[in-house]
Amino acid sequence: MARPRLEVMRPHTHIHIRGLCKTFGEKILFQNLDLDLLKGKITCIFGPNGCGKSTLLNMIAGLVPIDRGSILFDGKTYEETRTGYVFQNYREALFPWMRTEANIAYPLKIAGYGEADRRARVQELAELFDISFDLQGYPYELSGGQQQLVSVMRALALHPEVLFLDEPFSALDYEMTLVLRDKLQDIFQATRLTTVVVSHDLEEAVYLADEILLLTKPPTGIAETLAFEAPRPRNAATLASEDFVRTKAKSLEVFQREVRR
Ligand SMILES: Nc1ncnc2c1ncn2[C@@H]1O[C@H](COP(=O)(O)OP(=O)(O)OP(=O)(O)O)[C@@H](O)[C@H]1O
Ligand SMILES: [Mg+2]
Repeated sequence: MARPRLEVMRPHTHIHIRGLCKTFGEKILFQNLDLDLLKGKITCIFGPNGCGKSTLLNMIAGLVPIDRGSILFDGKTYEETRTGYVFQNYREALFPWMRTEANIAYPLKIAGYGEADRRARVQELAELFDISFDLQGYPYELSGGQQQLVSVMRALALHPEVLFLDEPFSALDYEMTLVLRDKLQDIFQATRLTTVVVSHDLEEAVYLADEILLLTKPPTGIAETLAFEAPRPRNAATLASEDFVRTKAKSLEVFQREVRR
């Protein structure tokens, strides 16, 4: 059944998407998708394999062109909005020939900031993230988790209005995943940045999210939007809370229904 068009924007919307269409060859991925993403909240996108999670994120982030429709950030276009993006594969995302500090400062350099300003911002981020490793070294000298942390710092360097992350922790081991999830949460609490995360890990999606967006199979729509309002900072106790268990179970039920459909 076609979803009714959202004529009115949800309150507290930051990212306002209307009539979004995207086709790859014969494959209709999105057809007239309407979506409002909340300001100052974490939205996690979860859905079947290949349903278009990355494509959706990348279209919103301006990395993949849309066929039709509109995407506005507080009424502004992508070009008028500062955004940060964290790629899944940190190994390919960082510049191996640049020192870690230079990697983090790269967006500032491109934006024309002088050396003193770049240094100061990197220092500020290092304090915010409570970094203990050497920023003068090269990325390959760091662990995978540390490299991904560097990617997040780089994404935040220019004080973005929106932060995008595509399966940011999926290449890391479980221990590092837990550490980085909590780092991300700390940063979110400190900045209240509008954050959009694609995750294939339901536990992670619910743990991080203020809102979980559950997608259907293509042509991809929103199967359900679930709120998760557990207080922050969330911790191991959150994972055992009734609200968490219920929200995760509900998400799984919707997911399985969509996969079978
Ligand atoms: N550049 C492209 N050219 C052709 N088809 C593409 C392109 N990018 C994505 N697709 C197709 O669009 C569909 C959705 O891809 P996408 O990577 O967005 O899905 P996803 O939900 O992120 O998948 P996964 O769960 O594997 O991460 C897939 O069928 C994919 O093959
Ligand atoms: Mg993907």
